Amino acid sequence: METITLNNGIKMPVLGYGVYMVDPSVTERCVLDAISVGYRSLDTAQYYENEAMVASAVRKSGIPRDEFFITSKLCLSRPTYEQAKENVKGSLRRMKMDYLDLMLIHWPMGNDSGIWRAFEDLVKEGYLRSIGVSNFYPKTYADLVKNASVIPAVNQIETHVFYQQRPMIQLMAEQGTAVESWGPLAEGMNGIFSHPVLTEVGAAHGKTAAQVALRFLIQQGIIVIPKSVHKERMIQNMDVFDFSLTENEMAAVRTLDTGHNLEGWPADALKYNPNEW
Ligand SMILES: NC(=O)c1ccc[n+]([C@@H]2O[C@H](COP(=O)([O-])OP(=O)(O)OC[C@H]3O[C@@H](n4cnc5c(N)ncnc54)[C@H](OP(=O)(O)O)[C@@H]3O)[C@@H](O)[C@H]2O)c1
Repeated sequence: METITLNNGIKMPVLGYGVYMVDPSVTERCVLDAISVGYRSLDTAQYYENEAMVASAVRKSGIPRDEFFITSKLCLSRPTYEQAKENVKGSLRRMKMDYLDLMLIHWPMGNDSGIWRAFEDLVKEGYLRSIGVSNFYPKTYADLVKNASVIPAVNQIETHVFYQQRPMIQLMAEQGTAVESWGPLAEGMNGIFSHPVLTEVGAAHGKTAAQVALRFLIQQGIIVIPKSVHKERMIQNMDVFDFSLTENEMAAVRTLDTGHNLEGWPADALKYNPNEW
């Protein structure tokens, strides 16, 4: 699996498996399927209520823990420093794990600088290997890094062919924070799987529209974590490393950007002005 080296020197697989909206009752089976076909990076969250099932699948796989890259996300409104620390340890207890590879603030929670100090200390104490944010846009990101000792390793934001996030990608590159796409398949919306441009580009390589959509992101150095409960789709979504999109094909896919997100999430990336940064 190709990796991206984060700003702390730790390597993260460029492609992983996400479990948002995977029902807790089937999460263990899905994650075991994902592991069996080669996924080693797993993305869960407190909010998804399936952290424990992800972790039990990892144990049941029999594969050593250190071969995985496991992400979770804190979800707690306006916690104090102490509450944030305790909250992360709650994830570790639920997962029966000694450490996580990456912990994110799921979205700006209020008192984000307090959460961040807790995260920084949890890195020093060995509970977290890397720390990052999710759904942080220029203002919230700037507020956080203003007082931070550690720059976020990752910012996980909605990014896909219909919402390409070019301003945020530029800003994060300048700051040394890797962009991780959530919803890399646009959550199946906008007819992505039969989109004529993606289908035509895919036909030239013997690939599906989904594979072109993922390749388009990976080729820009963006980390992707597609979700599927179907094993054959898990296999398909991983099979994106034996072809490259040409510059013309990248340009064709770039035209699909609508500049809007899918579900009304904060989109202040659109207001990013490099001169004001
Ligand atoms: N940080 C955040 O706020 C945030 C928000 C949303 C998501 N996430 C993370 O990002 C991950 C991925 O995003 P997502 O789950 O929202 O959406 P996604 O991965 O863009 O799309 C998932 C949808 O596509 C379908 N699908 C997957 N592969 C397919 C294929 N090859 N052909 C046809 N259909 C396919 C899935 O259906 P089936 O399952 O039926 O195959 C599902 O309906 C999440 O699981 C989660 O870990 C984070």
